[in-house]
Amino acid sequence: MSDQIEIIRPDDWHLHLRDGAMLKAVAPISAALFGRAIIMPNLVAPVRTLENLRAYRGRIEAALPEGSTFKPLMTLYLTETTDPTDVTEGAASGELTALKLYPAGATTNSDVDVKDMTRVHTVLEAMQEAGVPLLVHGEVNDPDVDIFDREVVFIERVLAPLHRYFPALRIVMEHITTEEGVAFVSESDENIAATITPQHLLINRSDIFRGGIRPHFYCLPIAKRENHRLALRKVATSGSPKFFLGTDSAPHPLGSKECACGCAGIFNAPVTLPYLAQVFEEEGALDKLEAFTSLNGSTFYRLPVNEDRIVLRRTPPNETIFQPIDAGAEGRVVVFRTEKPLNWSVAKA
Ligand code: NCD
Ligand code: ZN
Repeated sequence: MSDQIEIIRPDDWHLHLRDGAMLKAVAPISAALFGRAIIMPNLVAPVRTLENLRAYRGRIEAALPEGSTFKPLMTLYLTETTDPTDVTEGAASGELTALKLYPAGATTNSDVDVKDMTRVHTVLEAMQEAGVPLLVHGEVNDPDVDIFDREVVFIERVLAPLHRYFPALRIVMEHITTEEGVAFVSESDENIAATITPQHLLINRSDIFRGGIRPHFYCLPIAKRENHRLALRKVATSGSPKFFLGTDSAPHPLGSKECACGCAGIFNAPVTLPYLAQVFEEEGALDKLEAFTSLNGSTFYRLPVNEDRIVLRRTPPNETIFQPIDAGAEGRVVVFRTEKPLNWSVAKA
């Protein structure tokens, strides 16, 4: 078996870059490895208008190293007051790649979201018309629904009806975590796709509590039972064009993770590609890695694939890859790491 694999430069179809000191600390990391990334709009003041979007893109570009060719693909946070003309105008100019739907209060910085889907019908019509994808955080936020069931209930209550009502609307179910999510996406037509994170291929819900509570394994949607992890590994490594990489790399300062009420979010950008090589090798599917990281997402988003390539090598990475990131005044950010040793590294990026 080959000790080295060269693939088209990957893209990250779901990334949190934050703002301010955190943005400056994490943007160069993703920019060094990925060609493009879909930038999540859940800032403390969410990216809600084209004007917000342009300003945020400017701050991201300013945080990139000199000469970086990394392209941030910008999104708007869908709210009940989103202006349909922002969709039409942003799509026409190419500045707007997608809109993100967070069910009310589901996750970090998302208390401005849509409570009643009928209030966003005109925006969804504009998106359908312009071919702009809707990215969904696929969990209901009903306190009566068990946290481990929220994805499945979201599919029944929100996603399936939405797809029936807007069959031509292109939808990405972000960071899927369940067998039911895999089945829904697999069985739907070509307008439905999904992203998968590295952590959901690597950990199950027991890992979050192995020997004690592990805040750096806590993200939303929360990792599920082992059967779900195995279903995700199977479909991610299958080559199916409906599934592609979205790291959901979501940095939080250490103090906001290791505390009495820790934030959801795993910071994985520095280690995603080596971990994926390891997963794909374990599944006997290294030949499918490039489809997952570098081809399928481009196809769904109707963008050309990246022109340059990266090299991954079967050799343990330098320990520095796991060193916490210094985000200045915001503090340090812990890098995702499993108990099992990582035996792949990026040899050329
Ligand atoms: C994300 C964050 O921290 O912004 N957290 C997470 O656990 N995934 C929010 C999100 O992607 O839904
Ligand atoms: Zn996310």
